[in-house]
Amino acid sequence: MKIVVINGTEIKGCTYQIKETFLSVLRDGNEIIEYYLPKDLPHFCIGCKTCFFKDENLCPHASYTIPIWNAILKADLLIFAAPVYALRVPAQMKALLDHFCCHWMVHRPDKDMFTKRAVILTNSIGAPNNSAQKDIATSLNWMGISDVFRLGFGLMEGVVWNDLSDKRRDKIKCKTVNFARKYVTHKPGRKGLKVRIFFLICKMIHKGLLKKEKSPSADNQHWINNGWL
Ligand SMILES: Cc1cc2nc3c(=O)[nH]c(=O)nc-3n(C[C@H](O)[C@H](O)[C@H](O)COP(=O)(O)O)c2cc1C
Repeated sequence: MKIVVINGTEIKGCTYQIKETFLSVLRDGNEIIEYYLPKDLPHFCIGCKTCFFKDENLCPHASYTIPIWNAILKADLLIFAAPVYALRVPAQMKALLDHFCCHWMVHRPDKDMFTKRAVILTNSIGAPNNSAQKDIATSLNWMGISDVFRLGFGLMEGVVWNDLSDKRRDKIKCKTVNFARKYVTHKPGRKGLKVRIFFLICKMIHKGLLKKEKSPSADNQHWINNGWL
């Protein structure tokens, strides 16, 4: 199985420990590629819209985004590991997701995304993790991934891994290992109802737009090339 990990922090702290615990179950026999943010994508989307109107390869940050996207396309399992910052996902993770908006179903989805599985690992000192997890899950759903599961922790005792009690660290590790065991056997994700509905709505939108276009837009050409229009 090919696994791509997107780390939402370069700090080797709690997020790192949780992610390492998850991977410890999957290291044997699997190919794992990891990216660390912001190091591996140190730019925000500048909003030029070149990806939407022309080609994502012409993005000013393509030298960072294209290798990550190509690795994602080849992967069977995607892992997003991030701390909660101000109740949301860290800006560096959002910056990555923003760069991949052109791959949403409203634009140019990739059919390989429909069968991927994804895991979101988060932690906070105590705040609910849901909104941060949703930031990632929403993007993944719109990119066509249905099989997205989340595991979040409230650390409660501090924000430094070694400051947490043995009991709490063991509890976090135990839950993470049990969660990871579900991914030991490779099976493709299935296309769920939500993604099917999003896809059908997008298809109708693209069909409508195509009628008004003199020549197909980059998005519609992609839909035509895939035999979807
Ligand atoms: C800038 C920043 C903002 C944070 N915001 C929150 C927050 O809103 N709620 C919360 O419970 N924890 C918050 N935390 C704690 C983190 O979610 C996380 O638990 C902590 O950084 C430990 O993970 P790490 O070692 O991987 O950084 C914040 C941490 C940082 C550095």
